[in-house]
Amino acid sequence: MERQRVVSGMRPTGKLHLGHLVGALQNWERLQADYDCFYFVADWHALTSHYADTGELVANAIDNVADWIGAGLDPEKSIFFIQSLVPEHAELYLLLQMVTPIPWLERVPTYKEQIEQLSDRDLGSIGFLGYPLLQAADVVIYGAHVVPVGEDQVPHLELAREVVRRFNNFYFPVPEGAPSRGLVEPQSLLTPTPRLPGLDNRKMSKSYQNTIDLSDDAETIKQKVRQMYTDPKRVRADIPGTVEGNPVFIYHDAFNPNTAEVDDLKARYRAGKVGDVEVKTKLAAAIDQMLAPIRDRREAALARPGYLRDVLMEGSARARRVAETTMEQVRDAVRLRY
Ligand code: TRP
Repeated sequence: MERQRVVSGMRPTGKLHLGHLVGALQNWERLQADYDCFYFVADWHALTSHYADTGELVANAIDNVADWIGAGLDPEKSIFFIQSLVPEHAELYLLLQMVTPIPWLERVPTYKEQIEQLSDRDLGSIGFLGYPLLQAADVVIYGAHVVPVGEDQVPHLELAREVVRRFNNFYFPVPEGAPSRGLVEPQSLLTPTPRLPGLDNRKMSKSYQNTIDLSDDAETIKQKVRQMYTDPKRVRADIPGTVEGNPVFIYHDAFNPNTAEVDDLKARYRAGKVGDVEVKTKLAAAIDQMLAPIRDRREAALARPGYLRDVLMEGSARARRVAETTMEQVRDAVRLRY
């Protein structure tokens, strides 16, 4: 039996951190067992907001894919590729644009939000408005059934389904009662993880410099955890503290497998019987232990000359063959056959 397809992508805008690990990579890794997975570097999507500084994109792409392998993603099981090396994404995007009303894109929640949040950049471009439509092309071109994404991306998949229905109505009309055909409507698969705050209790983000990166070494992890935000009312170790919503304990819950230790620390924290230093030292050790094998696999991949580039070139060629098959059907359906 044919396995269903999973497609997901990540923009190469910087180093990957713990948020990417729990919010995406661990889920991507699990899906490899049950689906044919296509995972890609969304370099064109990075351009929609970073068009003025493109110098780091390629280096970031390679570094990110090293982290994917570190996190247990396997290029023998899944196809890893680069979006811009499969130019058919752009062709499908262009054809989808023809049937997409501009207000559908203007009302996507991330559109206005991002323009406000990234007010230091001019995001008044067609490219930025089209972001979710390019994303639709990314997944539809592989006939993706399932698209693992974070909550903020769910409206993008909704848009993708609406556009697919409209496109199919024009170009793959179905007689009454006949089975549907044409492009596949992709479903979003919500990544079942609580959101991790950043080290300073704001949203975790590279631009806030409040991340622990997957490539951080033991010493860096220690330093970062030492600066972590905790219960601000607890100015001395003998004052009872609050565990709920406290980033240090959110991280303990997420990354420390020794639940007996975590329970003991929480009890003593609530009772004012443990210092922050002990809580944080144990947290740093737990995070370091979790990241050590990821770092090792990452470094091993980076140490093999040309390996990651070869993986991406070969994966992009394989992805392209699948994308080309879809485009053959689409060009036929649009009657662009010369
Ligand atoms: N928009 C996604 C994000 O910011 C990245 C992305 C681009 C993507 N194309 C995609 C995710 C296709 C899933 C499927 O996280």
